[in-house]
Amino acid sequence: MLRYIKNRSVALLACGTVFLFSFLLSCSALKVETYYEYGIVATASPLATDIGVEILKQGGNAFDAAVAVGFVLAVVHPEAGNIGGGGFALLRDGETKEVMSLDFRETAPNAATERMYLDNDSNVIADLSTVGAKAVGVPGTVAGMYALWEKKGSMDWFELVSIAAKLADSGFVVDAYLESSFREQRAKLSQFETTAEIFYPNNQTIKESNLFVQNKLAKALYLIAAEGEDSFYDGEIADSIVATMVAQNGLITKEDLQSYAPVWREPLHVKFDSLDIYSMAPPSSGGIVIGQILKLIEPFDFSRYNPNSAEYINIFSEASKLAFADRSKHLGDPSFYNVPVERLLDDNYLDNRRELIEIGKANESDAILPGGMLQTESDQTTHFSIADKEGNLVSITYTLNAPYGSKLVVNGFGFLLNNEMDDFSIKAGVQNLYGLIGGEANKIESNKRMLSSMSPTIVLKDNEPLLVLGSPGGSKIITVVAQAIVSITRFHLNLKEASELGRFHHQWVPDVLYLEKDRFSQEIQNKLQSYGYQLKEREAYSDIQMIYINPSHFKTGMSDPRGRGTTAGY
Ligand code: DON
Repeated sequence: MLRYIKNRSVALLACGTVFLFSFLLSCSALKVETYYEYGIVATASPLATDIGVEILKQGGNAFDAAVAVGFVLAVVHPEAGNIGGGGFALLRDGETKEVMSLDFRETAPNAATERMYLDNDSNVIADLSTVGAKAVGVPGTVAGMYALWEKKGSMDWFELVSIAAKLADSGFVVDAYLESSFREQRAKLSQFETTAEIFYPNNQTIKESNLFVQNKLAKALYLIAAEGEDSFYDGEIADSIVATMVAQNGLITKEDLQSYAPVWREPLHVKFDSLDIYSMAPPSSGGIVIGQILKLIEPFDFSRYNPNSAEYINIFSEASKLAFADRSKHLGDPSFYNVPVERLLDDNYLDNRRELIEIGKANESDAILPGGMLQTESDQTTHFSIADKEGNLVSITYTLNAPYGSKLVVNGFGFLLNNEMDDFSIKAGVQNLYGLIGGEANKIESNKRMLSSMSPTIVLKDNEPLLVLGSPGGSKIITVVAQAIVSITRFHLNLKEASELGRFHHQWVPDVLYLEKDRFSQEIQNKLQSYGYQLKEREAYSDIQMIYINPSHFKTGMSDPRGRGTTAGY
């Protein structure tokens, strides 16, 4: 329960005089943060959050809670939670203090080729990399969860996974958010009869407060609970994935599944001010691009600017352009392409790049080249952050890529498969779903991992936990996470203020500064235009899930006010 309330004198005066219920209400209105002594969970789904907290209360550690939450999201947050996708985990072990990262990103099937989405005239074939079986990368989530549990879990695997299986079997109550998501996606999900049968039973859109039952998914989850990852990569589920591929002209074979392996990687580490920032190394671009942005802006004195002042937006956006330009050329799967990680984060290199940042001026993207070297999407990846009483931290972002991935479900098991193949550069210079371009470093090759922007992040101060955070949003994940870090550590905003602050995004190509709708005054917009920015408004985006830990190890958290997620603890 509530253990500790951060001091804010006005708020406490008001809060202290009333009954507990109104106390809590008034606290939230007055932005008092709720702190928990033991454990805390922030996810995009209230049900998943509650289950995560329950695991912690039962004595499970943050890693156990992460496994349970990961599988539960596959049931209750089907547009992004998954067993047919992949992702990344950043972890901190409270005992050894070691920070680790686990890559369970999808891989290209062995039969994938560089030109697989092009016709004979080298034109991109519409939708082939985003819809249906050819869009699917070999899924990594189940192997990732298993690897995490094997290394760090303390509870019984069956117990953790069967929570999700039971929920799929008995059904859960659909909320307004999910009803509207089902409604919006109906045409797309109905392209495949097997998918329509799951999400539109009896040809109906499931309404708010009705139950969504997923018996086929439950069968898959019970098998995974009972047999572990083998059921998915070698057993009955693997056979069904292959049968689905054969029926739909996909490429994934049994060998592809058998040879899939998650990879424990050195996390990407940068120093920003006195903080240690740990995020995901390639094949995610997240760590390097966040690292470049933070190091490029580091010498600027932000005490002279307000959060989201034109000057701050200007500095941050010029840094983003430089970093995204480097992303387009230098980043890809490190097993296939020699990513110059040290050089990209080298102080001298960044000192030179910083000379291109001039306050009061927007460089034209054409004038910026990758050193020595867009978009139409919705927010359907999901992130969860967990901290326990032992100092263990988990920061996981995983995804099907687009909402409901490739829209294709596995025959007999009813779970969705990703469309992560679109994250490769399917043709040099052609934008992916997120407007991102790439070339050689991220071209399609057999068994290669496609470049990602997912950025599960852990921030330490004096070697102690400070922040656990991450978000969906495609390429915008990177700027959302970096802006949250700056808002909290440079502008000293609390989590609520930081998450409510309007978001802005520039990714070099296209040469547009995106501003979240209705969050930036006309005065600021005029000033940014006078600097030379082309502005475009964009609907509210991303769904950040953050935890902050104070020096006494009390924890507070915040689920993005734009989403339906919740944060809870004890
Ligand atoms: O790995 C990536 O960067 C993308 N597949 C993430 C997709 C995403 O965040 C979708 N939500 N907006």
